[in-house]
Amino acid sequence: MSWETAADVLVVGSGVAGLTAALRAHERGLRVLLVSKGTATDGNTSWAQGGVAVVTPEVAGGDSVSRHVRDTLDAGAGLCSKEAVRTVLGDGADAVARLREAGARFDGDGDALLRTREGGHSAFRVIHAGGDATGAEVQRALGAAAEGSIAVLERHCVVELLHGESGAVAGALVLDPEGRPGVVHAPAVLLATGGLGQLYSATTNPDVATGDGVALALRAGASVADLEFVQFHPTVLYAPEGRSGRRPLVTEAVRGEGAVLVDADGRRVMEGEHPLADLAPRDVVSATITERLAASGQECVYLDATGLGGNFAHRFPTVYAACREAGVDPVSEPIPVTSAAHYSCGGVVSSVDGRTAVSGLYVAGEVARTGLHGANRLASNSLLEGLVVGSRAADAVTRDLRCGVVVRTAAVADPVPATAVVDRDLLQRTMSRYAGIGRTAEGLAAASAELDGAGVVRPLRTHRAVEDSALALTAQALLAAAAARTESRGCHRRPDFPETDRSWQDSVVLRLDVSGWL
Ligand code: SIN
Repeated sequence: MSWETAADVLVVGSGVAGLTAALRAHERGLRVLLVSKGTATDGNTSWAQGGVAVVTPEVAGGDSVSRHVRDTLDAGAGLCSKEAVRTVLGDGADAVARLREAGARFDGDGDALLRTREGGHSAFRVIHAGGDATGAEVQRALGAAAEGSIAVLERHCVVELLHGESGAVAGALVLDPEGRPGVVHAPAVLLATGGLGQLYSATTNPDVATGDGVALALRAGASVADLEFVQFHPTVLYAPEGRSGRRPLVTEAVRGEGAVLVDADGRRVMEGEHPLADLAPRDVVSATITERLAASGQECVYLDATGLGGNFAHRFPTVYAACREAGVDPVSEPIPVTSAAHYSCGGVVSSVDGRTAVSGLYVAGEVARTGLHGANRLASNSLLEGLVVGSRAADAVTRDLRCGVVVRTAAVADPVPATAVVDRDLLQRTMSRYAGIGRTAEGLAAASAELDGAGVVRPLRTHRAVEDSALALTAQALLAAAAARTESRGCHRRPDFPETDRSWQDSVVLRLDVSGWL
């Protein structure tokens, strides 16, 4: 090993969940080390637009936490854990208050915060910052709070989790920016690695969203669930086919403020499709757009926000800038939009305290499957989950360390695990073609076979190789979950099983068969 260090808790990931957990653990007196494989602001959090869905005590107009719970359960299409939903949403107001104490500034005045609405919400309860730059403000505030108190290693990439003699996780093998392997000894490792949008050619996620946490946790013996529920955001700025990579989001809040989806002939897309029309839950809107485009042969639909008039640039500065860069003026013309992979509703099975079934391993944020999202996440519940579960997970780590239920020294058996040689472009095209909106048994099997041919090389010494191996493993896990679920539910749509089947009201839970691919 080129280098070695130690902490009480190793936090992997620097978005809302990772930073919240790190700050809370530090407050609790733990020695925290946070590693981020990019710069601390490279993750999904910085890109979040719409806001934070939360019911705070001063809210008027008949909204309540139980109403927010009901909307979340409805969107989740029968697969949410009621207990997880009640706990996370119930903790929301306190979590947001702590975030504001940490310096986050939301739009509005003092207690009179401005609130918008997004798909599936029955009330105006989504608070926002900088108009449509909520994630950037959350990231800024938490990053500033962490500065000087939390030890952060940027451009450090976790290769694998290490175990102590009892089998508990006890640290991680990490590559430094020059690719030198080192060991972080830590009796608790908290994964807050975000999502997996880079499995697809078109995604709202940045380059770092490569499913790392799912792969690390699977290899460490944890279970994952609900991976088949990849949420496709209905409105990202359309780019002609062939252009892959992160696509600019057009926040759902634009529809919350009155914009409507129309086709190339100006006909409303969502009218008659759902009682909430353009504000139907996201899975419904994305699936309707996909069906409409398949039927018409057109490549995009349009978001007509011209009714917002000159206020658009002020209310949605990020979207406005992206539109203008693409040569579209949203004040005077409809915005061409299409759907793209956006959010993983599933992930590593955990409690709302971030505990997994593997001792010493904790998760929070998008990588975690707490049961909050079920088969389709309600818009803007994710920043809230990062805040609440990040904090609760830090408390759980603190309690577990005090009880001495964790192991302190990691054993490094094989520091250079095998990895697949992955053609990332092929993987993304294959996943987009066969595991996007609308999957069939035939297509899923074809995808699995296509991605199975990867060769194996040693050693795993570059950040790119670590990501590629995570993408390959996460893709296979997602394909297996999608093939297993022989029904349509939430964001998982199977044309060969178009109905929702009551007998499928359980999660598909997967563990790694270690005799198979690594
Ligand atoms: C959006 O602003 O439309 C996205 C919000 C979310 O994904 O929760």
